[in-house]
Amino acid sequence: MLDRLCAGQVPPKPHLVFRAPSGEPYYEECVTRGGFDGAFSILYHQHRPHEAEPGPAEHGFRVPHRAPTPPLARRHFRCLELGGAGGAPLDCRTALLFNEHVVLGFARPTASDPAYFVNADADELFFVLRGTGTLRSLFGDLEFQQGDYLCIPKGTLHRFVLEAGSEQAWLSIECLGGVGIPAHYRNPVGQLKMDAPYSHRDFRRPSFVGPLDEKIRELVVKRGQAFFGFQLAHTPLDVVGWDGAVYPFAFPISAFQPRVGQIHLPPPVHTTFEARGAVICSFVPRPLDFHASANPCPYPHSSVDVDEVLFYANGAFSSRRGIGEGSLSHHPAGIPHGPHPGAYENAPGQTHTDELAVMLDVSAPLFATAEANGVEDAQYHASFRAK
Ligand SMILES: [Fe+2]
Repeated sequence: MLDRLCAGQVPPKPHLVFRAPSGEPYYEECVTRGGFDGAFSILYHQHRPHEAEPGPAEHGFRVPHRAPTPPLARRHFRCLELGGAGGAPLDCRTALLFNEHVVLGFARPTASDPAYFVNADADELFFVLRGTGTLRSLFGDLEFQQGDYLCIPKGTLHRFVLEAGSEQAWLSIECLGGVGIPAHYRNPVGQLKMDAPYSHRDFRRPSFVGPLDEKIRELVVKRGQAFFGFQLAHTPLDVVGWDGAVYPFAFPISAFQPRVGQIHLPPPVHTTFEARGAVICSFVPRPLDFHASANPCPYPHSSVDVDEVLFYANGAFSSRRGIGEGSLSHHPAGIPHGPHPGAYENAPGQTHTDELAVMLDVSAPLFATAEANGVEDAQYHASFRAK
């Protein structure tokens, strides 16, 4: 969650009588986290926000199912080869790797959402590999483009409006225990510290547009890994104003300020977001380590408490080969991992990397779905053998 914002009309204090010029009341909706102890926002509706009748759930993406467990191995999935793509974001997401904390998926939507969606299971974090569009929510319109992270707090009513003709490819991370900015990047009053790898100015907030009726009355709610349909009595985008610290935001990965050391720094210096059971890191173009004898290639390691996932966006990833745009690698705990043969040996003297990738270290074992298995590079584990 970021700093407090205020948009549109709000009364001078919460929970006061607040009326339209016509004399009709506006209705509060308090969106609270951590019960009533965490971050919150308060929205003011023209209509009662709690009027929705159950109806058929005609939309929803496939929730993850565990495929039979393969041998413990380093694995590589080519997301851009996933079949069955297309449709609205609400329908076309494919789960690939998951555990009790996170669900990693991939989506290549071709149409805007025809219904509003509330994910009541998870904060959503997307990384836009390709595509342009708008995330429309109660809080306003938030435009996104290639290279953006998009964070949608749990419970946010929204839909995606895609830019016509824009090819879309998104990594999706459902964070079932929430996701946010690491506490150690903040000072005691909540500001991002001056040595954080980004500043408040790097985050884009929704532009408030005021009451809007798109004539859409269908709402889909995901709760407990199931989808439920509702018919709304009126447009849910009837908000005249809101304030608070819970709202969707975008962060361009290019704004991440990388750290470089005299000798190689470990992945936590690239931490961008923190979730329950996971950290999400950004590997961005940067100079490499500058000790005269530094080996700037990541060293082999056994991080015995975490599974490592890397999603490759662009550039040459110095330590790996056979991977490219849209590659998703999974290196499980229990077996060491490290650079491909030749990478470690040939790295000394390199001064710069143009790699662009999203990395997760997750604390519980990840399981692959059948869909992931269908786009697996079966030679990947063996590719680490020195010939
Ligand atoms: Fe690693």
